[in-house]
Amino acid sequence: MFNKSLSSIVILLLIFLFSIFSGCDFSSDITIIYSNDILAELENCGCDDNQLGSLSRKAAVIASLKKTGGKILNLDAGNLFFSKKPLNTIEKNEFLLKSQYILKAYNQIGVDALNIGEKDLIFGIAAITELKEKSSFAFISSNILSKNKNSPIFEPYIIKEIYGKKIGIIGLCGQASSLSSEISIEDPFKAAEKWVDLITDKCDYIILLSALGLENDKKLADQLKGISLIFSAKSENSIEQPVLVKKTWITQAYKRGQNLGKLKVNLKKKSVFKIKNRLIPLDSSTGENQEIKNIVKNYKTALISLNKQEFLKTELTSKDSKLPDSLYYLSAEKCGECHLPQYENWLQTFHADAYATLQKEKNNYSVECLPCHTTGYSEPGGFDVYQGPESRFLNVQCESCHGPGSNHSEKNDIIRNTGEKGCIICHDNKNSPEFDYNVYLPMVKCPTDM
Ligand code: HEC
Ligand code: HEC
Ligand code: HEC
Ligand code: HEC
Repeated sequence: MFNKSLSSIVILLLIFLFSIFSGCDFSSDITIIYSNDILAELENCGCDDNQLGSLSRKAAVIASLKKTGGKILNLDAGNLFFSKKPLNTIEKNEFLLKSQYILKAYNQIGVDALNIGEKDLIFGIAAITELKEKSSFAFISSNILSKNKNSPIFEPYIIKEIYGKKIGIIGLCGQASSLSSEISIEDPFKAAEKWVDLITDKCDYIILLSALGLENDKKLADQLKGISLIFSAKSENSIEQPVLVKKTWITQAYKRGQNLGKLKVNLKKKSVFKIKNRLIPLDSSTGENQEIKNIVKNYKTALISLNKQEFLKTELTSKDSKLPDSLYYLSAEKCGECHLPQYENWLQTFHADAYATLQKEKNNYSVECLPCHTTGYSEPGGFDVYQGPESRFLNVQCESCHGPGSNHSEKNDIIRNTGEKGCIICHDNKNSPEFDYNVYLPMVKCPTDM
């Protein structure tokens, strides 16, 4: 009995000593934290209770990893700041403002390198270089060149030294279709060959951050020797078990920051790394980092003051352009005059509170949220951002499902039931992952006179 407990104490002591030393340079394990295709998602929209993502959660995970004392490399394979081309000036200014706060969050989190993907170039080279100037980490691209000088605009590579080993990091961007005329993108395969060749002698290992998509990454790994790891972006793959092509591991962590990739690498073996990979889902059990939450809060305050001004500035032109000559919207109050049972039923559904939902967290000034939480967003006679809270088309009203009703009174011309396709314009798999037409429809459809 006594012997048994003594030996377990000795074992515990050994484990304790080992864990102390493994935090020192004895070990050659490093942890690489990776993301890709964050697509401007500073915070998830909260449309679904179990929605994954938000940079405050990412920061919380990284902070707790740092506490354990091991060596961490934090990488992003690209498409961070923007997700799509803006439709109008309001969207443009909103997305540009947001990118500044995403940068602040990344500065705060402490990133080692960000690869520039084609979506990061949506707003042109001026916008991305302005972000670079304010960043406290490296913006990498081995193949985005300035057109006149044909020289790299971002760092073509960086070298990090960990446990005395030199790790070279290069980055590639795919051929963007509509690029600004100021830049040219060198063929990524050629650029990879060139830079791997140039830095091989300076490095023990080479990591590639690639916004080329998984299939291209596999091809590249097959054709080119010398890259140990590829962190991939663009193709929206969720890779639990990294793919090994010849001697190169390839992995990717889905999109919108829903997962955080965590790859443990043992640097001892030169030919093929020993690795252990995990995608950590950033769900509500993750915890949140307060500094990042403050950055999000400041973003919202800045956005409200920006858009309040924007909305007013363009009020007149917008009203002019909205004079309807075809179908236009009437509003739920109007419909309710003749369809009282349906109106009263609708008031009981969540659709009738969709705008209040946005107001709760002060999201009602974001053009990212309004389209699905209002009726006839920027269509003739529908919800007009320039009227904001004054509009008659707040919430998901009758005409979100039945279509604009301006022809209805004369011709009885109105859609009775759109079927599933009328729902999934809003209930898409990002914002309503649990949507099931047969389950959802009975909860919101109208009573019929039978
Ligand atoms: C593409 C359409 C779409 C966009 C854009 C959108 N939402 Fe939603 N939102 C929905 C749908 C659909 C639901 C209902 C989801 C469900 O219950 O299945 C929802 C639900 C919500 C809910 C939960 C409401 C509740 O009562 O539980 C919140 C909160 C919310 N959205 C906030 C936002 C915010 C904030 C934004 C902007 C960042 C946003 N939404 C953008 C479609 C959208
Ligand atoms: C002036 C009164 C009036 C107004 C306002 C009105 N409706 Fe109707 N609606 C009717 C009448 C009358 C019918 C036909 C009823 C019938 O056929 O029994 C009808 C039928 C419908 C139907 C069933 C169509 C079908 O094919 O079965 C829908 C759906 C409908 N209305 C939706 C709306 C919506 C949405 C609005 C607001 C945009 C609206 N109505 C406004 C009077 C009105
Ligand atoms: C214009 C966008 C839009 C359309 C079209 C739309 N919805 Fe919704 N729906 C929403 C939003 C936004 C919410 C969240 C409302 C809230 O709680 O703030 C929602 C919520 C719901 C809910 C409540 C979900 C819950 O968690 O309780 C159901 C059920 C629903 N919708 C069913 C449907 C069905 C069925 C259709 C098609 C016939 C449809 N919706 C069409 C935007 C839309
Ligand atoms: C989430 C989508 C949705 C919304 C929002 C909605 N409806 Fe409907 N409505 C339906 C569907 C689906 C039907 C067909 C029901 C059926 O055939 O069983 C319907 C049927 C009707 C009918 C025909 C009733 C009958 O007796 O045949 C009328 C009238 C109507 N809706 C009016 C309204 C009015 C008015 C509003 C707003 C106050 C509204 N609807 C909001 C989906 C919606």
